[in-house]
Amino acid sequence: MKYYITTMGCQLNENDSEKLSGIVEKMGYEKTESLAEADLVIYNTCCVRENAEERLFGKLGELKKQKEEKGTIIAIGGCMMQEPHILEKMKQSYNYTDIIFGTHTLHKFEEDLKKVLEERKKVRDVIDIDGEVIEGLPISRNDKYKASVTIMYGCNNFCSYCIVPYVRGRERSRQPEKILNEIKSLATQGYKEITLLGQNVNSYDGGNDYKFANLLDDVCKINGIERIRFISPHPKDFTDDVIEAISKNDKISKIIHLPLQAGSTRVLKEMNRKYTKEQYLQLVEKMKNKIPNVLFSTDIIVGFPGETEEDFEDTLDVVRKVNFEQIFMFIYSRRIGTVADKMPNQIPEEIKHNRFERLKELYDSKVSINNQKYIGTTQKILVDGYSKNDASILTGRTDSNKVVNFQGTEDLVGKMINIKITEEHKWYLKGEI
Ligand code: 5AD
Ligand code: SF4
Repeated sequence: MKYYITTMGCQLNENDSEKLSGIVEKMGYEKTESLAEADLVIYNTCCVRENAEERLFGKLGELKKQKEEKGTIIAIGGCMMQEPHILEKMKQSYNYTDIIFGTHTLHKFEEDLKKVLEERKKVRDVIDIDGEVIEGLPISRNDKYKASVTIMYGCNNFCSYCIVPYVRGRERSRQPEKILNEIKSLATQGYKEITLLGQNVNSYDGGNDYKFANLLDDVCKINGIERIRFISPHPKDFTDDVIEAISKNDKISKIIHLPLQAGSTRVLKEMNRKYTKEQYLQLVEKMKNKIPNVLFSTDIIVGFPGETEEDFEDTLDVVRKVNFEQIFMFIYSRRIGTVADKMPNQIPEEIKHNRFERLKELYDSKVSINNQKYIGTTQKILVDGYSKNDASILTGRTDSNKVVNFQGTEDLVGKMINIKITEEHKWYLKGEI
């Protein structure tokens, strides 16, 4: 029996899909990259932006034929299924799907699938209460040297544009020992890089005053783990103890993802972000002073309701001042059920796209200039494998997550090695051992 899985959205969803893969592989399914030969098709959906709905419904139409021809089992789950209007549409128009599951019932997938296989039942397993933190699910990881570890679930922030708190529920943190044991086990399996995941990762609360900084310190003590990343922190929770943990631990990556969302204090207030433009810039300054060679990446939304030309200029101003290493740019997308969706002053598509292009131009114009600082330096690279475009070239990433290509032999894959950077090519660097 073969299964095919598609994941939309963020790394948390990817990590959920690794667990779904673990569950079905334990039941005897083998992974396939070919949809046509799959006996079980799983879609793990996202609803953060865009109209991914249309894409999903299009795909479901195609899958109906495959199901009619060979009885393929269809399982659709994840964030989108937690949206009432989508769930309703699934039940109305796509009722031939076998399993519909939400974000709080992932651990029941084996049970749900068995009901379909053994009792020929349709399963609708979406609940609206925050699931407990479930430990010990099997997991089939996508990578051999880098692993993601979810440390907390949910979000309490209710940024006015964001659907996440509605579909992922309130914040729940895993117990420190469970997280540390998982990472120790990854280290013994040869994993070198760990990314700690949470919708609001730095509000992690392990109980008994054990906070995110404590967790960072303890993960750094695990032998074999050489690089630690975390996403996504919220600027308002970036406490001094976390800054100190980053600055004193060599293993923690010195590129900090610090979602800005908007540069205008007025827009930030409307977004319910709980910091001003000045506070954000002060935080950046503080980190630059305390963490040698720190770099920043960020998320920015353009075209939030009511965003004026002046507000947008504030965003550009912060981009110029901080000089981000990487920017993830998004056009504001209305999400049903959120506060911002009900705001009257929505921005016309044309203006949103125009601002997006201007932000992109500003960012693009800085990439090569920013890359110059790498030339002639020695960078620690975790070697990922051979380049997709050239099978004779190895590729890996710097601490700051830049792609580096270089000539080398297969035995280097999965190792941390030093590479001298010789050239920059905008989206990647070239170097030599
Ligand atoms: N529209 C556009 N971008 C959004 N994001 C979250 N919600 C929306 C939305 N409604 C972006 C934010 C967040 C990232 C994961 O997705 O920038 O940090
Ligand atoms: Fe969404 Fe804000 Fe929570 Fe991030 S912090 S998941 S943007 S509500």
